[in-house]
Amino acid sequence: MKSFYLTTAIDYVNGSPHLGHAYEKVLTDVIARTKRMQGYDAFYLTGTDEHGQKIQQSARARGVPTQQFVDETAAEFVQLAKLLNLSNNDFIRTTEPRHKQVVRAALQQLFDKGDIYQAEYRGFYSPRQEQFLQEKDRLPDGSWPEIFGEVIEITEANYFFKLRSYQQWLIDHIAAHESFVFPAHRRKSLLEFLGEPLNDLCISRPKDRLEWGIPLPFDEGYVTYVWFDALLNYYSAVKDLGRWPADFNVIGKDILIPAHGIYWPIMLHALGLPPPKALLVHGWWSINGAKMSKSTGNFVDPVEFCKTWNVDSLRYFLVREMTVGMDADFSRERFLVCYNSELANNLGNLVNRTLNMTGRFAGGVVPAAGEAAEAENELQTLWAATRDEFIRLSDGLQFHAALDRLRAFLTETNAYIELRAPWKLAKDPSPAAQAQLHTTLATIAEALRLGSALLWPVMPSSVEKIRAGLAQPALTTWEGELEWDGRLAGVKLGPVDILFPKPAPEKKS
Ligand code: MSP
Repeated sequence: MKSFYLTTAIDYVNGSPHLGHAYEKVLTDVIARTKRMQGYDAFYLTGTDEHGQKIQQSARARGVPTQQFVDETAAEFVQLAKLLNLSNNDFIRTTEPRHKQVVRAALQQLFDKGDIYQAEYRGFYSPRQEQFLQEKDRLPDGSWPEIFGEVIEITEANYFFKLRSYQQWLIDHIAAHESFVFPAHRRKSLLEFLGEPLNDLCISRPKDRLEWGIPLPFDEGYVTYVWFDALLNYYSAVKDLGRWPADFNVIGKDILIPAHGIYWPIMLHALGLPPPKALLVHGWWSINGAKMSKSTGNFVDPVEFCKTWNVDSLRYFLVREMTVGMDADFSRERFLVCYNSELANNLGNLVNRTLNMTGRFAGGVVPAAGEAAEAENELQTLWAATRDEFIRLSDGLQFHAALDRLRAFLTETNAYIELRAPWKLAKDPSPAAQAQLHTTLATIAEALRLGSALLWPVMPSSVEKIRAGLAQPALTTWEGELEWDGRLAGVKLGPVDILFPKPAPEKKS
């Protein structure tokens, strides 16, 4: 079996999960499930990023020990993964011993080979915020914002990783591998950024400033800079499984430069490991046209949302609404339009009609199709084109467009039902009308079986319900499942609960 390894960014546990976190995990899940349908042994890793200043500060603000704090918040992310029905094979936390060991070994290896050296670090420091400031943090008049309190200039001995020595290697690597960054415009920005000389990377924090980190193996007076620690999760989780390199590191646009596009491939190369095959960079969600923010209430809690609606309608909306790589906006109004017109009235309606009509007009057993006429032939031809396009678009990560094609097929199937009007045919006892009725019922059951199979990566639990209604086994591959072959003839259909109930008026989310 061909192997495929894909990862998400690991989320900071200094707050609860939000819609942006949920999107990235769902997108990666859709890719993992699509690969599995195509016969790959896909390994999906997600997890949490648990060290660093922000986390130490959040734990102190809450007045709990840091370990307890990260345990509690990480549990929310684990819970979200379950609620979103992610098919992740592992969930890594950077506070786990298996990860810390790998980070320490990597640091020691780089230190021994001379890629890490000690030097003085000089800069402006805010004792109140416990952080170094940069020129960009200054106000236009050159002063420092109030939140930083008194700012002092300090010099501190630290450890540095020789990024600059590998800059040319990285440029050459990106130039030689067009698919290293998706989408292409992000690759271009990365190359532009690399047009300027890189500074070496400060990878240590003195312990008297920051305790919450992985101690440097060669100097216990320091902990590791959080990015150097966090990036290695992709490797530490699978080191003993022979999965490295990753096929996809899926990340948001804010963490391509410099973390994933520069530090990460250079770290790996210096360690003698190949870089990931591709960085898949998605855009950001805004909410009601504005940046999401918990404090202003412009926020969607994915846990609440899944409970109010259902997970599959959220998954579907996220994937159909965002072109991978571009930004998108989330609003309750748009969600409702999509839910009603595409889920309840299109797919949901097709499911209900297929099962109800087969029950009422054929005793619940799918009849064998008679001879296909033009309408049936057209639908079959449309199916073949839809399937091929859907797969081509999914392979190119154009999931929103793939779902468009599928939607058109479902709409055409509903239109075909209107055209044939089985409820009229049922009233006509003539052999011709009865034959037509049987062909119609067979045709729509087959269209539903096939169309829903393509939806499986996006809405796995709804599709399994549909398949149970069609008395079909759970889907494990698309192989042999996407051909129009009339296999449902003679099959007794079962009941399916309403998949997309019309929203009750009091639902607010
Ligand atoms: N901990 C780092 C990643 C380390 S990976 C070795 C981090 N964490 S984060 O919690 O801030 O973000 C996690 C992911 O969520 C990132 O890929 C980020 O781009 C993504 N998103 C955060 N807000 C988002 C939106 N509003 N929309 C879409 N994705 C967003 O960065």
